[in-house]
Amino acid sequence: MHLLEQLRDDALRDIESARDEQALESVRVKFLGRNGGISMWGEQMKTLAKEEKPIVGKLLNEARNAVTAALEARAEKFRSQKEGEALANIDISLPGTPHEIGSLHPLTQMLDRAIAIFRRMGFAVADGPDIETEWHCFDALNTPPDHPARNEQDTFYLPDGRLLRTHTSTVQIRTMESAPPPIRVIAPGAAYRRDEVDATHSAQFHQIEGLYVDENVSVADLKGAIEFFMRELFGADTAVRFRPHYFPFTEPSFEIDVKSKALKGGEQWIEVCGSGIVHPAVFEQVNKARGDDAYDPDKWTGYAFGLGMDRLAMILFDIPDIRFFAQNDLRFLKQFA
Ligand code: PHE
Repeated sequence: MHLLEQLRDDALRDIESARDEQALESVRVKFLGRNGGISMWGEQMKTLAKEEKPIVGKLLNEARNAVTAALEARAEKFRSQKEGEALANIDISLPGTPHEIGSLHPLTQMLDRAIAIFRRMGFAVADGPDIETEWHCFDALNTPPDHPARNEQDTFYLPDGRLLRTHTSTVQIRTMESAPPPIRVIAPGAAYRRDEVDATHSAQFHQIEGLYVDENVSVADLKGAIEFFMRELFGADTAVRFRPHYFPFTEPSFEIDVKSKALKGGEQWIEVCGSGIVHPAVFEQVNKARGDDAYDPDKWTGYAFGLGMDRLAMILFDIPDIRFFAQNDLRFLKQFA
């Protein structure tokens, strides 16, 4: 028997009797490590006679392959043994850990529905900050300095003169500042007023602003869009009523009421929206800020609206008090899961 064959058999015997991974590793080092018995033969190849080389080379290869395979097989055995032991300690009859699955807040559900409807009408979703400049909230929207909404009693002012936006109409301005007409966007978000808090008033509430600017936009377009929206949301037999109103940034202006037999208290008109045709003075303010004439009031017209989102959700889900939305009471929230 060649010495290499002897070495191989020694290695295989040592591998077989190795009791753990550590023992197996020292066997590997002993035979295949840098100074291992088999590796040394590799070094010696150079010194061999020409006719011996192929014979020894073959034996060397065989020994190396056999030992490597045996090492791997033994290591695999240790691994599966360990795994088996670990699994044996798991009692699969024990009850699992239950995971509570959350659900969307009713206002979020309301918002998702509204966005889906407006998207089908071709509206994109726009966004703006809750903390605003007076200019975006009032001046650009043609609201004179002595307007009651600007009063400190009605608006939350920050020490630096900025404010919490009192309506989402600010996003009308921001959208027009950043893009030329035509525009067709909705902007959902929070608004803030120093209202006396009661069942229908909250210091923070939510609106969905809408703005459509194009050539020849009329009140008929506004009516069509709002009626479609309300009927998609509340059902086909929903009636929509436009009442003349006043907003500084629209002319003419309307408040919009809905009534639907499908809703609780179905015979009652409920006010849900302020709206109107964008006032030319608003376009002029935007042009000034842009430094161009993109919103030429002789060329472009538009409609805008501000839907009361909390109000819509209260009607849709029959919620009697706006304060429920922010109280985080699971007994309330779980009813919409
Ligand atoms: N911003 C108004 C409000 O909060 C609603 C509105 C929006 C009216 C757009 C007209 C046009 O009451």
